[in-house]
Amino acid sequence: MDTAVFCVTLCLLINANTADVPTKYYQERSALLAEEIHTAVGGKVSLNENETIANNILMKWKEKELSNSNAQRINFAKHYFTYKKDIEKSKVYKIIRKMPKGGLLHVHSTLLLNEDVLIQFTYEDYLYACFANNDLSFYYATKTPDQPCATKWELVSELRNNASSTEAFDTQLKQYLTIYNDKGVDCDYQDMNAVWQRFSKVGKTMGSLISYRPIRERYCYETLKQFYNDNIMYAEIRISLYGVYELDGSKHTKEYMVELYKNTTAKFIEDHPDFVGVKLIVTQSKSRFESVLAALNMTRRLKVEMPDMIAGFDLVGQENTGKPLTEYLPILYEAKDEINYYFHAGETNLSGTAVDENLVDAILLGSKRIGHGYALTKHPSLMSAVMKKDIALEVNVISNVVLSLVHDVRNHPLASYLAMGAPVVLSSDDPGAWSAEPLSHDFFVAFMGVASKHADLRMLKQLALNSITYSALDDEGKARLLKVFNERWDRFVRDVITDVSLLES
Ligand SMILES: *[C@@H]1O[C@H](CO)[C@@H](O)[C@H](O)[C@H]1NC(C)=O
Ligand SMILES: *[C@@H]1O[C@H](CO)[C@@H](O)[C@H](O)[C@H]1NC(C)=O
Ligand SMILES: *[C@@H]1O[C@H](CO)[C@@H](O)[C@H](O)[C@H]1NC(C)=O
Ligand SMILES: *[C@@H]1O[C@H](CO)[C@@H](O)[C@H](O)[C@H]1NC(C)=O
Ligand SMILES: *[C@@H]1O[C@H](CO)[C@@H](O)[C@H](O)[C@H]1NC(C)=O
Ligand SMILES: [Zn+2]
Repeated sequence: MDTAVFCVTLCLLINANTADVPTKYYQERSALLAEEIHTAVGGKVSLNENETIANNILMKWKEKELSNSNAQRINFAKHYFTYKKDIEKSKVYKIIRKMPKGGLLHVHSTLLLNEDVLIQFTYEDYLYACFANNDLSFYYATKTPDQPCATKWELVSELRNNASSTEAFDTQLKQYLTIYNDKGVDCDYQDMNAVWQRFSKVGKTMGSLISYRPIRERYCYETLKQFYNDNIMYAEIRISLYGVYELDGSKHTKEYMVELYKNTTAKFIEDHPDFVGVKLIVTQSKSRFESVLAALNMTRRLKVEMPDMIAGFDLVGQENTGKPLTEYLPILYEAKDEINYYFHAGETNLSGTAVDENLVDAILLGSKRIGHGYALTKHPSLMSAVMKKDIALEVNVISNVVLSLVHDVRNHPLASYLAMGAPVVLSSDDPGAWSAEPLSHDFFVAFMGVASKHADLRMLKQLALNSITYSALDDEGKARLLKVFNERWDRFVRDVITDVSLLES
């Protein structure tokens, strides 16, 4: 058929059909779409004149980057590692990086810095390393440590001096400090247990690097600096409390760690007066009942001694293989009116399992927020309880990809949570372990890869506002964070609309 004839036939068909569809249909259609937009996260935000201009710039780039050849480079069906480097070239990313984001509410203390920052800590004198069976642990001491080591302790400074090049040595060392790999994804990363194993190894190595008191202080300060540079003005850090040590091997108490964070944060605020602060969520791995009880007791005590520092309590570990919350129910139930819970729950793709049903206990135990809540869409009653009780969901998309819970982010349940206007906060879980920024990468992937194409600056603003609303700050703290946020937001909007690099290319 020649194209003219084809068009004539087709156009006639289309005309014939439209003639039969009443106007009312189109009105209903528009009304439904408008209702969807109004319901979604950000639907109730209205933008002022400058914000509208900034939004147009943002949406122009969003459309462009989602449609052109860029879409082949950043393919959200593929693993995050395959497009991480390309994210940093995106204009949308540039805008998101500048954007004030409020608070960071779901991150784990030891996995916050990337390998390029961590490597500085290996230049400290007195640092020993133990390389054994593909594992690496560190220890700071004035003489060869008497800590167990399957091979032998060696001074890092000597190893570095003896190496053919400092750079090669550091590159090798960095591989123990991240699971990110810019050469693509080796097939192991598709297997959840394999990736968790690798992830735990990196966690252990990093933990050993930052257990020495002076380094932990520098690490804590550096962490806050990274947050600040990513336009985060407040953080709630999940932390496992243990005794940091001094050069002579003496160990501090677990409680000392809370003081260390308190003092370092105070110092950081002195240097950066618009940073609002840090609270800790004490975590305990889902291990022995007695250990959980002891951690819970300590949290209660600390909450009394340092109420400003302690937000609450959480249990951690790979959910699929760890024990369910029901194992600890008697003690968790007993303490629920005294301690705020922020439980990880539903970080699984298996419906009807004990892990999946942690969601029930998280809700019944009064969890203030739920970590991940990935499985929630499969439980309409729980979902409606979450909406009714206004329990925020801490969604960590990149973590879910890297830890192999979802392969194509467009299938991530966050899309539904955003569409239904659920109380969502975005976070990054363990950004240091995969060399991501504390929030910007996660905001980018959620905005470009997960949310509706219609999602715009209003959604981004609402997500940032949610992180204030659902934080553990008291009313006064929230008001202060909101004030800082608003000031920075106005500056950000002015920056976007005057940034010549964001003009049409
Ligand atoms: C809008 O932006 C311009 C600069 O581009 C600034 O002069 C003006 O004060 C802004 N208006 C508001 C309401 O912030
Ligand atoms: C570094 O090289 C020196 C001289 O060859 C050697 O004595 C020392 O054992 C080496 N140190 C390490 C940690 O390999
Ligand atoms: C659920 O997660 C496991 C572990 O990554 C994976 O092997 C499995 O394919 C996933 N199932 C679905 C339906 O995505
Ligand atoms: C924190 O600061 C207080 C007051 O300066 C000091 O007494 C305390 O020893 C410090 N604690 C830590 C862990 O740095
Ligand atoms: C925890 O506190 C309870 C109640 O105060 C007490 O009976 C128990 O012995 C404590 N357990 C541990 C392990 O600290
Ligand atoms: Zn987590």
